Amino acid sequence: MLIKNGIPKIEAVFAAEILDSRGDPSVRAFLRLADGSVGCGDAPSGASTGKYEAVERRDGGGDGSRYGGRGVLDACAAVNGEIASALLRADPRGQRAVDKLLCELDGTSSKYRLGANAILPVSIAYARACAASRRCELYESLGGSVSGGRFPIPMMNILNGGRHAANNVDIQEFMLVPVGGESAADAVRIGAEVYRALGGVLHRRGLFCGVGDEGGYSPSLARDEDALDLIMEAVSASGHENDAALAVDAAASEWTSGSDGVYRLPKRGVEYTSEELILYYRGLCERYPIVSVEDGLGEDDGGGWRAMTEALGDRVMLVGDDLFVTNAQRIAAGARAGAANAVLIKPNQAGTVTETWDAVSEARRTGYKVVVSHRSGDTEDSFIADLAVAAGADFIKSGAPCRAERTAKYNRLIEIYR
Ligand code: PGA
Ligand code: ZN
Repeated sequence: MLIKNGIPKIEAVFAAEILDSRGDPSVRAFLRLADGSVGCGDAPSGASTGKYEAVERRDGGGDGSRYGGRGVLDACAAVNGEIASALLRADPRGQRAVDKLLCELDGTSSKYRLGANAILPVSIAYARACAASRRCELYESLGGSVSGGRFPIPMMNILNGGRHAANNVDIQEFMLVPVGGESAADAVRIGAEVYRALGGVLHRRGLFCGVGDEGGYSPSLARDEDALDLIMEAVSASGHENDAALAVDAAASEWTSGSDGVYRLPKRGVEYTSEELILYYRGLCERYPIVSVEDGLGEDDGGGWRAMTEALGDRVMLVGDDLFVTNAQRIAAGARAGAANAVLIKPNQAGTVTETWDAVSEARRTGYKVVVSHRSGDTEDSFIADLAVAAGADFIKSGAPCRAERTAKYNRLIEIYR
């Protein structure tokens, strides 16, 4: 039967090796339904990956081999072979059934056999093909609407450090949050104006004006906090004192092995305990209009997260990224333990659209805020913008308002709320 319960059968699935924003290979999947509807989807890729997230599959081979071992031909072959034949043979209908089959076919908890970078693009391509078949927008097909005037507020990473930049800054992300934006387009404008002003501030000081992986500037600075002063200067210079707040992503899992309770900031070489980091963040939140601290502590520091949430949770968002890895069970366990009060949602940490959706539902159930996010290695795929709208996300994190892989998401938001 080509159409069952209004859902057409999957007719074809295939993948190609493409490039991401770092020039690394990535997977793009294409899918066609029996009514001719088509969809595609890309796999993004993280640099500061969490220990518990779904894993991507790379060809390997090391230096001197194709793409230095970072090729994804095996992941593409998995889509073209095993995944395509299973989907065509088993004939699942609907997102949940398709994603369940993909997970069962892989058979591992981390998706390492087929690779999350093979599975997620197929899952996204299916979501898009279904939207095309229903003749509606992707966010509508995912269950969302644009009514009510609310929109996901951008968190724009305008100064990059950590694993995303070759500077001496340990904090990975300094974000501008245009909280006063009256619409998605207005919020993007505020962010872009501050970003432009920040370029001017850096230039006048003779600081480096090149950008990091997520499009934010990446100067070397005397202290990490100087980034916040420079951004505040740009906020004033652009006249957005009343529209803009700040957020940081420490990506602190990168600073600790988790075993000795010590955080060693790799670039500056200084060491902190969890308690000292909590005091450090408290000080920053007192001095700057910071509304959100992401991954302030490591993914295995449960006690520290609880203490940080007790100390700061009533005044700022404490976002779990590596801590939760877009996993409903980890979010539920974190909520029971009193860790964090917001969840970062990255589809490729989970590996399918359905598991991503389940993580959003769990975050909502626990009363946590939802921040939908890109990865530091990303493509022009704007799926997360539709996901953020469908999920009724509070925020969307897609890097600086610059570089096409970052602006693709913000531009799609503008298009959705036009
Ligand atoms: P990643 O960084 O994509 O390199 O993991 C993004 C983040 O930590 O939020
Ligand atoms: Zn993060």
